[in-house]
Amino acid sequence: MTDPAVVTPLRIIEFERGDVWMYADAEALAHAAAALFHAVTATAAQTRNLAYVALSGGSTPLRMGEILAAPPYRETVPWSAVELFWGDERWVPAADASSNYGTAKQTLLDHVAVDPSRVNPVPTDATDPRIAAQMYSAQLKTVFGTVAEVPRFDLVFLGMGDDGHTASLFPGTPAIHVTEELVVANYVPKLDTYRITMTPPLLNAAREVVFLVSGAGKAEILAAVLTGPKRVDELPSQIIAPEHGRVRWLVDEAAAAKLDDASHG
Ligand code: 6PG
Repeated sequence: MTDPAVVTPLRIIEFERGDVWMYADAEALAHAAAALFHAVTATAAQTRNLAYVALSGGSTPLRMGEILAAPPYRETVPWSAVELFWGDERWVPAADASSNYGTAKQTLLDHVAVDPSRVNPVPTDATDPRIAAQMYSAQLKTVFGTVAEVPRFDLVFLGMGDDGHTASLFPGTPAIHVTEELVVANYVPKLDTYRITMTPPLLNAAREVVFLVSGAGKAEILAAVLTGPKRVDELPSQIIAPEHGRVRWLVDEAAAAKLDDASHG
């Protein structure tokens, strides 16, 4: 079983808000993320024959998906045991080019032996984003067999926008402070659209949260999120702090460029 250490990071920098595993470039980062996906799902599948994973959207995870869809991971990941959800979704049909599920289906799911009954896209064909969020919450409770307690993912992937958002927890939006729901419809004024997003309580219940952050365009905001004052309304990524889990930042050198001259948390 390959461990992310197999794709040895150039450096590991410890911060209060999570350890940063730095890789030379986006390609090495994608390989490390794929190795981590394999390591966590294989371990979870060994213990309970199920691995609960939430995928992130955006562009950064796409290369990881392509790597997982090719040998060796196409054969070595216990795909039939992987229960897949999405940390957030755009309010578009699955066939839309901007659908997180739709792009994951094209780059990964159509090429590996996932159990279709264990692939849980957000129901964006619902009549209303709020209903879709309620349906997704119900689906989570059904799949995890929980009623009161919050479902615990084995692995949650997250991205971070250059405005500090993660999932669809955008700056200044109400979803940042939701405590009683697992999933909400979050209206994002800057995009003038609804997004369906997992909430901090659900994301922070995970055993492992892994941010994938790549590119010079993220350097400034990554330093602010990791080392600056805590201000979750402006920097929602700062709200990710698993109570009984681990948060790790897999980044490339370009995204980490501002971390050296920032004080370590
Ligand atoms: C989405 C995401 C979002 C994404 C960040 C980073 O649906 O867009 O889930 O939170 O992860 O915006 O996106 P990039 O990887 O494209 O920079």
